[in-house]
Amino acid sequence: MTNQKKLFITSALPYANGNLHLGHMLEHTQSDIFARVNRMLGRQVRYLCAEDAHGAPIMLRAEKEGISPEEFVEGTRKEHWQVLQGFNISYDHFHTTHSPENQAMVNRIYNGLKENGHIDTKVVEQLFDPEKKMFLADRFIKGECPKCGAADQYGDNCEVCAATYNATEVINPRSTISGATPIIKESLHYFVNLKNFEEMLKDWMNKGALQDQVINKLKEWFDMGLQSWDISRDAPYFGFKIPDTEDKYFYVWLDAPVGYLGCLKYVCEKNGEDLEEWIAPDANTEMVHFVGKDILYFHSLFWPAMLYGSGIKVPDAVYVHGFVTVNGAKMSKSRGTFINASTYLKYLKPDYLRYYYASKLNDKIVDSDLNMEDFVTKVNSDLVGKIVNIASRCAGFIKKKFDNNLSAELHNPELYQKFVESSEEIANLFVKRQYSKAIKIIMTLADEANVYISDMAPWQAIKQEHKQQEVHQVCSTGINLFRILISWLSPVVPDTADKAAEFLNIDFNDWHAVKQPLLNHEINKFKPLITRMESESIEKMMEDSKEDLKSLEPEVQITGPLADDPIADEITFDDFAKIDLRIAKIIDAQHVKGADKLLQLTLDLGGLTKNVFAGIKSAYAPEDLIGKHTVMVANLAPRKMRFGLSEGMVLAAGPGGEDLYILEPHAGASPGMRVK
Ligand code: 2FM
Ligand code: ZN
Repeated sequence: MTNQKKLFITSALPYANGNLHLGHMLEHTQSDIFARVNRMLGRQVRYLCAEDAHGAPIMLRAEKEGISPEEFVEGTRKEHWQVLQGFNISYDHFHTTHSPENQAMVNRIYNGLKENGHIDTKVVEQLFDPEKKMFLADRFIKGECPKCGAADQYGDNCEVCAATYNATEVINPRSTISGATPIIKESLHYFVNLKNFEEMLKDWMNKGALQDQVINKLKEWFDMGLQSWDISRDAPYFGFKIPDTEDKYFYVWLDAPVGYLGCLKYVCEKNGEDLEEWIAPDANTEMVHFVGKDILYFHSLFWPAMLYGSGIKVPDAVYVHGFVTVNGAKMSKSRGTFINASTYLKYLKPDYLRYYYASKLNDKIVDSDLNMEDFVTKVNSDLVGKIVNIASRCAGFIKKKFDNNLSAELHNPELYQKFVESSEEIANLFVKRQYSKAIKIIMTLADEANVYISDMAPWQAIKQEHKQQEVHQVCSTGINLFRILISWLSPVVPDTADKAAEFLNIDFNDWHAVKQPLLNHEINKFKPLITRMESESIEKMMEDSKEDLKSLEPEVQITGPLADDPIADEITFDDFAKIDLRIAKIIDAQHVKGADKLLQLTLDLGGLTKNVFAGIKSAYAPEDLIGKHTVMVANLAPRKMRFGLSEGMVLAAGPGGEDLYILEPHAGASPGMRVK
């Protein structure tokens, strides 16, 4: 079924200056299941990852902590590797991009590109911090937006008007590192001429290994025209020096993907293998990268171009996945849904999350929602209620009555055979990364196994002397069905599978082993393989994640109105889009008899009038309002009030009392216009 090419699998290398969170774990889980399934299918697999060590933020962070960047990176590398192992991610090695092997690969690739005429140089103007004596990346510059004048905007885009611009255009710029006013300074930069690779990239794109959405994205980029890629940064910088230069370093995004090969080189050297057998253009290998949709550009343009341009084999596939949302929304620190992977491990078992992610994942670039309620229900009902239940219903009889020995024949060999026949389809689905489909089939078969045991009711039959052999064979069939199911699930839930292997006295190294049932086979005492997941553990984990925020951001002192009235829980764009805000003209305003706070407003929305009771009497006399334009929520469900029906709301700001201000649009905004 599988070809026997050696398989080289990677996940994106985590940055050394951040914690791993549950979003990262989606990718590591996805690639780990892929690696484990392929190993079981007999492929020679190299499954590798490393710490992404370089860049200015890491240099500055280490400086702040008073240690060398090398020490800092080694600390986070150890932490990350420990967490990954906590989730049973089975990398053959977890390296670092700050390694001699990576430097050798980076130089080899750069020299190859240079010799083949793909490197250009150009003088560029950049902002320079005269105090810190360093060029400033956009994220280290703040100032006023050159388009709308909004204060405190970053050096590349404005969060207020969404304009993008060059850092040199920012008005009154300051360095966020030293606070100094940057100056404009020239510097020689090195570029990879991406245009040289357009034809090659188009060929590569059409080889069939990329997802449709990736191909569409590539086409868009081709249409926009490929830009040369700036691969150099000036000292001071934490990275690798560009050969034959004094003070130029490779940009972190050049040496990060090369880190895949740096790690491979390290492992090959350790095992006495020839690296070229893995990476030569005609090597009999398959090289696949798992990455998130945010770093597609680097992996589908720069990376294949760099490899091709320096005579190394190009990736066979880039498997792109979406992001993780929690309870339907972006992970949020204030809600406790931005959960660090290490925090998760304090409260919950890795198999729970691995199983849940697997039950959601497919080969498309779609976001996966971790819905906490569904998470608990699914894990308990599938893993505990269906899978483990099969073993626990049968194991007791085998132990008590048959001395822990399985029967010589199955009671229902047809059912066993039916399971075996699904094995190839399930393997194929895993290999094609359609994990959710594979899990569905496994669970449907688990239901069948449970129905079979219920129908045979060994707990009844055991009471009859002449049915002892039947019970033996029925329970042995049940245990054998369980063995197939858990063998299929072993790449997904390795801890549970390890315990099942101990119970069954076997291992799960070979996908095809299930073709032969376990007959006349001694098993061990059954111990609970996985416990139920408790909602309280989730609550505690989320509470703890809120704490993480407090300890992470002690310097943020909120003053002004936000101190007493903090920003509400985040909503999605879809939530926002539901609110229909319109310009309304106040054509009449009246006191409301018997109401202390309300005024009755008649609002014109350009032909349609609405009646609204607004709590603004403390700040406005009716006559002050008539003729003014304001903003109203036009699609709010009408509310019946004591004084009549209120058909919307007008927007006003302020704490209340006299201190209340209705929103007034600029001249030109006329009734009925949508506010967006
Ligand atoms: O986006 C990130 O987290 C990067 N550190 C990924 C690097 S992947 C590869 F190119 F090394
Ligand atoms: Zn702006």
